Amino acid sequence: MTTKTKSPSKTSKAAALWAERGELVASGSAAYTSVVIERALNSKVWDVDGKEYVDFAGGIGALNVGHCHPKVVAALREQAGKLLHTSFHVAAYENYIRVCRELIRMAPIAGPKKAILFNSGSEAIENAVKFARAFTKRKAVISFDNCFHGRTLLCLTLDGKYKPLRQGFGPCPPEIYHARFPYAYRPPRGVRAEDLTEYCLEELEKQFLVDVAAEDVAAIVVEPVQGEGGFVVPTPGFLKALRRLCDKHGIVFIVDEVQSGFGRTGELFAIEHDGVEPDLLVVAKSLCGGMPLSGVVGRTAIMDAAAAGAVGGTYGGNPMSCAAALAVFEVFREEKLVERARRVGAAVQKRFDSFRDRFAFVGDSRGLGAMRAIELVSDKKTKAPLPAARVKEILHDCVDRGLIVIKAGVHDNVIRTLMPLTIPDADLNRGLDVLEEVLGAFKL
Ligand SMILES: Cc1ncc(COP(=O)(O)O)c(C=O)c1O
Repeated sequence: MTTKTKSPSKTSKAAALWAERGELVASGSAAYTSVVIERALNSKVWDVDGKEYVDFAGGIGALNVGHCHPKVVAALREQAGKLLHTSFHVAAYENYIRVCRELIRMAPIAGPKKAILFNSGSEAIENAVKFARAFTKRKAVISFDNCFHGRTLLCLTLDGKYKPLRQGFGPCPPEIYHARFPYAYRPPRGVRAEDLTEYCLEELEKQFLVDVAAEDVAAIVVEPVQGEGGFVVPTPGFLKALRRLCDKHGIVFIVDEVQSGFGRTGELFAIEHDGVEPDLLVVAKSLCGGMPLSGVVGRTAIMDAAAAGAVGGTYGGNPMSCAAALAVFEVFREEKLVERARRVGAAVQKRFDSFRDRFAFVGDSRGLGAMRAIELVSDKKTKAPLPAARVKEILHDCVDRGLIVIKAGVHDNVIRTLMPLTIPDADLNRGLDVLEEVLGAFKL
């Protein structure tokens, strides 16, 4: 979402490529850093001039198994010699079916289930909404403020951030309503954090009177931990209450685990922390170790509601991505990455809590498992967000010192960690040390 970043040193190969990027690539393409990468392995990347970085961004949460995991690379090499593409709609192949079988086995949903594969998180979200509408024969969809579900037209309408995601791209699809998400660090004035679950539910009930009747709502779409919104963990009981509301009104409960899934929070899926079952689970990113793949897995009756030919696409679940995903599943089992996420998360939390206690501009330390963040403020009392330009200075200083780390949050004032779960302790500590040095040197 950042558009301008500090350029690398003027004489470097990276600087030349960065200049070409500016000339040739549409400027709406987000640029979190100005690093130009040549190669990567596990939690380290090297730029085109040979500079080494620790990577706390992990391809925006797509690399829980690390860069170029040898098992993923081997699976891709083998697959490349066998079959690159037919389109699953033209001729089926085994590894697509095996990925669906695994997703069905993993999804925390009881009873008969089916799955389907796509290319990106946005595409999977769009299709989950299509399934919900086809099944319920209703139109309205509820998402939340601060949420992020992607950049296609339906997804950017669901997004709970107007600029730059929606501005100038309308008209947007109708029948999308935004409800309040319980953001404990920033509750509405006068509402105590402990009352936030109830407050948000009361507001939603009010929306059923004011905006749209519950019986006209096809789906509620929620991230169990908001990602781009700033790693906001909902207050206790909120997700359970949404599930009950969906049951009461026959609404399809769509859980977006694109960023929070595949071990990031210390469970395979974040929703498992709450013991809540989605109707449709949306997966992407770390499902596939760096290859493009997404999917929807859910209750058979809902998944079968779309007519034949109404969902899918040329490349969805292509053989290369499916081969990589099957390797990723093996790596998760063999390297016990869900447990590793808890250990990584505990180490990051300890340091982030100390940053909050020591630094006047670190207002909050929060997260779940290894999905952790600090929120930066100009003033701890008023919680005025640290201006985005100042946050950028911090992120640029981290990059200068060899750490790639990225922002999030509706005010662009949250620093989040999405390092590979396979990160060795030495890289983890090195990255945290860099961040601590940079925060220590920062003057409000
Ligand atoms: C929670 C969530 N949903 C959906 C998306 C969109 O995924 P993609 O960028 O693959 O379209 C993202 C991307 O960051 C995401 O974090």
